[in-house]
Amino acid sequence: MFETMRWLPGEECLELLDQTKLPVEISYIKCSDYRAVASAIKCLAVRGAPAIGAAAAYGLVLAAGRAGANTKEEILALVEAAARELAATRPTAVNLNWALTRLTKKAHDADTGDPVVLRGLLLEEAHAVFREDASGNRRIGEYGQGFIPQNGRVLTHCNAGALATAGYGTALGVIRAARDAGKNVSVYADETRPLLQGARLTTLELLQENIPVTLITDNMAGFLMAKGMVDLVIVGADRIASNGDVANKIGTYGLAVIAKAHNIPFYVAAPFSTVDLSLQAGDEIPIEERDHTEVTHHGGRLLAPVGVKVWNPAFDVTPHHLVTAIITDRGVVRPPYHENLKKTI
Ligand code: MRU
Repeated sequence: MFETMRWLPGEECLELLDQTKLPVEISYIKCSDYRAVASAIKCLAVRGAPAIGAAAAYGLVLAAGRAGANTKEEILALVEAAARELAATRPTAVNLNWALTRLTKKAHDADTGDPVVLRGLLLEEAHAVFREDASGNRRIGEYGQGFIPQNGRVLTHCNAGALATAGYGTALGVIRAARDAGKNVSVYADETRPLLQGARLTTLELLQENIPVTLITDNMAGFLMAKGMVDLVIVGADRIASNGDVANKIGTYGLAVIAKAHNIPFYVAAPFSTVDLSLQAGDEIPIEERDHTEVTHHGGRLLAPVGVKVWNPAFDVTPHHLVTAIITDRGVVRPPYHENLKKTI
């Protein structure tokens, strides 16, 4: 599998896999400034809640290394300004704010005025964010794989795999772990309009791993479930409120409703860095709205009449009563989520 991102120590820069080009082209974007990281997040070159958190953490390391910052105060001012810009790139995934807050605090708490040492501390923290995400995903896999039966047929949406994280993936991590536990698992991947993360990325990851995958368009999921062809649904998350409401890629809510109608369990797999206990419920989660051309165009080609009105929310909110369990890196959380998420902290 490709690396989603890598820090190049000799060159002091971050390389990001350009996911907008997948699966056709494998190329990396070199970021030697935090603004390049911000635009890579904005255009979805790097995407998926945990991956954008880790990329933003490295972005703050780049900000701290900007020329002209020689004192702790000057570095802090740069880091805080960069954190504000990076946070504004994508509002829904709370992992972004979580990682930015973690690095900014590290800079504040540092017991040094030496810019080189301070920057080294930030780099170590960014590496830790990255490493912890990768190991947390392995735990999510271990905790979640028991939900997949032998010969299990799983439906997933968008991409919550290695490409969306520091490695292994959340929803796809559970599927990988079930396969590694000796189960025959097969996957239906929703294409995931408008940007086709399912068609372009999830199928690519699963094909690389030799996990059987069948691509469907989003509007086929209901019929697929009605025909008895799905045993469970597993998706990732961008933010989970205290009551267990889940923001994830647009289309997730519809799947959860259809799954409920057919008595099919609906699981969410996410690290605890995706849980936002400061929010009571999903209606407080900010939902990113993206450019209309993502809906009216594909690959630069116009698909709809010029001037048509468009609505393009990137995420939706699935109410907690539709979620069978939340599989986290700290264990499986079951309803009532407003009690059990807090207990898992
Ligand atoms: O717009 P994207 O591609 O960043 O959306 C990604 C998702 O919705 C994922 O399901 C979510 O971030 C979880 S990734 C482990």
